[in-house]
Amino acid sequence: MSDKPVILVTRKLPDAVEARLLRDYQPMLNPDDRLYSTDELIEMAAKAEAILPCHTEKFPADVIARLPDNIRAIANFSVGYDHVDIEAAKAKGLIVTNTPDVLSDATAEIAILLMLGAARRASEGERMVRACEWKDWSPSFMVGTQVTGKRFGVIGMGRVGQVAAERARGFGMEIHYYNRKRLAPDLECGAIYHATVDDLLPHCDVLSIHCPATKETTGLINRERIALMPDGSIVVNTGRGGVVVDADLISALKSGKLFAAGLDVFNGEPDGIDPQYRELDNVFLLPHIGSATFETRVGMGFRALDNLDAIFAGKPPADRVA
Ligand code: DGY
Repeated sequence: MSDKPVILVTRKLPDAVEARLLRDYQPMLNPDDRLYSTDELIEMAAKAEAILPCHTEKFPADVIARLPDNIRAIANFSVGYDHVDIEAAKAKGLIVTNTPDVLSDATAEIAILLMLGAARRASEGERMVRACEWKDWSPSFMVGTQVTGKRFGVIGMGRVGQVAAERARGFGMEIHYYNRKRLAPDLECGAIYHATVDDLLPHCDVLSIHCPATKETTGLINRERIALMPDGSIVVNTGRGGVVVDADLISALKSGKLFAAGLDVFNGEPDGIDPQYRELDNVFLLPHIGSATFETRVGMGFRALDNLDAIFAGKPPADRVA
């Protein structure tokens, strides 16, 4: 019998990551990438010492309470950890880690894709070509809005927000941001800091949401705050759906208060997203693929494994969040 720790791995991971798992641990892999039910997870956890889950597996307080005592750690394959009740995990003595840094470039790329797709009506145009509905060209055909030289506002100027701002600078955009703490000048790179979200919003031709979903940020982008944005502005969300009040965003997209939105994350994703989004021409929708690049998936897996390695070596993991 091997004395390597048993790790419950909830989803199919890149080959290189699974190879490292097989070398260093006894992983319970999921080759079919089936989404486990909570009951299945709890049952399988009886044989493991740690769980390596994604944000698709939820660990609210009642699930944490049901985890067997042999589970020492939840080493997430994600930077976001809103799917884990951190207070409940701490109370149970569980170590929880995440995977920051490695997905900043990939997620910032998607934020820029969403910005451009929303501004230039990419979704509408693409559908038109596919459906053989493109019949003409004229100066008034499919006119969008240009982002070059406009203002790019960031909520949550962490690692992803900073890279997105850097990319937006490539379009000559002026960067404005709100963050709980003002950045040092070398990280700010000339970005204009606003001490509150309400102060930031009037300066956003494009608002890019990069904050995590927390008690404080849930429902942050609501009717009152959207009203503070310039008419004809754009909302981009690669953070978490919960930061936005869907009904208020949809109503602003319908009224023309907002020109468009680009969304990669949603309340109730995937099945329970507000169906009105599917009907609107002025939204550019993606299925939570911010970090979905080959490079980043391997980076996330290795980062989760670095954290597990530290935990089983009795050292503090670099990315401990509980
Ligand atoms: C993350 O890492 O938080 C991404 O949203 C994928 O889970």
